[in-house]
Amino acid sequence: MKQIIYHSRPFGFDEAMLSGILLQARRNNARDGITGALICRQELYLQLLEGPEEAIDRLYAKIAQDDRHADVQVAYVAIVEARMFPDWEMLDDSMPGVTFSCEGIASGAIEAATVDELRGVFALLAERAKG
Ligand SMILES: Cc1cc2nc3c(=O)[nH]c(=O)nc-3n(C[C@H](O)[C@H](O)[C@H](O)COP(=O)(O)O)c2cc1C
Repeated sequence: MKQIIYHSRPFGFDEAMLSGILLQARRNNARDGITGALICRQELYLQLLEGPEEAIDRLYAKIAQDDRHADVQVAYVAIVEARMFPDWEMLDDSMPGVTFSCEGIASGAIEAATVDELRGVFALLAERAKG
């Protein structure tokens, strides 16, 4: 199974756009055996996608072309045994400031983060989602 983490800059972000993306993601991902999480801030999308390799490659190609965001950059790719978000077609985390502050994002915290730090953010989310 393939896992990827990428980040991008929302293009004209608003709640309606985010709901639209999540609706589309959950419908398609259920069909394609994909799970993951999307962290969303005014200035940032940070998404983890996991599932069958071909399905992930196909989805990432579509996402990279999506004009609702820009500067799409892969931060991490791996072949893994177990999913981090087995129960989530697409978990969303739009609580401001919980993981990365707006100021931090603006000053390049995501670009500067190590792969372990990025994975750590998703591990924390997965833990919290279990309740
Ligand atoms: C930040 C972001 C995250 C997205 N995540 C997903 C996703 O997890 N699954 C998905 O199918 N589409 C996702 N999309 C939408 C895709 O880019 C594309 O519009 C969609 O897959 C096309 O679906 P359709 O073939 O049903 O029209 C995302 C788009 C953005 C901007």
